[in-house]
Amino acid sequence: MNNLSVEHLTGIKDLTKEDIELIFKTADSFKEVINRPIKKVPSLRDITIANLFFENSTRTRLSFELAEKRLSADVVNFSASSSSVKKGETLIDTVNNILAMKVDMVVMRHPNPGAAKFLSERVKTKVINAGDGTHEHPTQALLDAYSMREKLGDLTGKKVVIVGDILHSRVALSNIYCLQKLGAEVMVCGPTTLIPKHIGELGVLVEHNLRKALEWCDVANMLRIQLERQDLKYFPSLREYTMLFGLDKEMLDSLSKEIIVMHPGPINRGVEISSDVADSKQSIILQQVENGVAIRMAVIYLLASKIGR
Ligand code: CP
Repeated sequence: MNNLSVEHLTGIKDLTKEDIELIFKTADSFKEVINRPIKKVPSLRDITIANLFFENSTRTRLSFELAEKRLSADVVNFSASSSSVKKGETLIDTVNNILAMKVDMVVMRHPNPGAAKFLSERVKTKVINAGDGTHEHPTQALLDAYSMREKLGDLTGKKVVIVGDILHSRVALSNIYCLQKLGAEVMVCGPTTLIPKHIGELGVLVEHNLRKALEWCDVANMLRIQLERQDLKYFPSLREYTMLFGLDKEMLDSLSKEIIVMHPGPINRGVEISSDVADSKQSIILQQVENGVAIRMAVIYLLASKIGR
């Protein structure tokens, strides 16, 4: 298969296993490109991409911009805080105005779940979801699974625990879909208040004891507590959360096997993960960031190949 089964990347839920394998195979070639002295290919010289960020971002925004530039696309960046959205313009009007300037593809981060899908159904451009509220963050899940695969090989039967604020996490949902499509077993771990009540229906295991979860897994993906999305108190204090669900070096070293530690960033050092774990040889946090550029190049390249040009 040389083509994705989808016209946009709004969520992992819509992808097939073959789509994910194709993205990984394409990312392998781009990873080789970005490690050359000249980290650039001319593939998308005729394409213009707009990065629309209605929410804060460091990694995703820079990673998409670098991916686009490494593919030689023209890039424009839009930040809601300094735009006419502040004057009451709707999302569709904003995007249609940007498209009138001959933009071929839109990468969008938005606080509302479903925003990317909504947009993809209403505008004539390719849409990539760079995170929509608490819903999905598909390129994060792809880069996470790609990074796991680099370390462990085929993910069939591998055990991955996602720890922390599952309730508010778009990374968790996209990871669950992606890992299950690749044959991995997924567990979520955290306080009862931060685990959605019906998450078992997605086929994941639920564990509230961090040590038991870590003894079970090959990979622990530690999530940030998203205080900015919490409208009420889900646990008594950050200190108590860290005592029960924070991963420190003592816990990591006491496990019966060596596990891989991941984090999508941004890290709250000393809350969900201690500094010595984040910087340990078992942590692949910076490899995740590196792989993010290759994965985003692959997604952009594959979707651009579907634009009639
Ligand atoms: N992982 C992630 O989405 O980070 P940013 O919010 O910095 O983009």
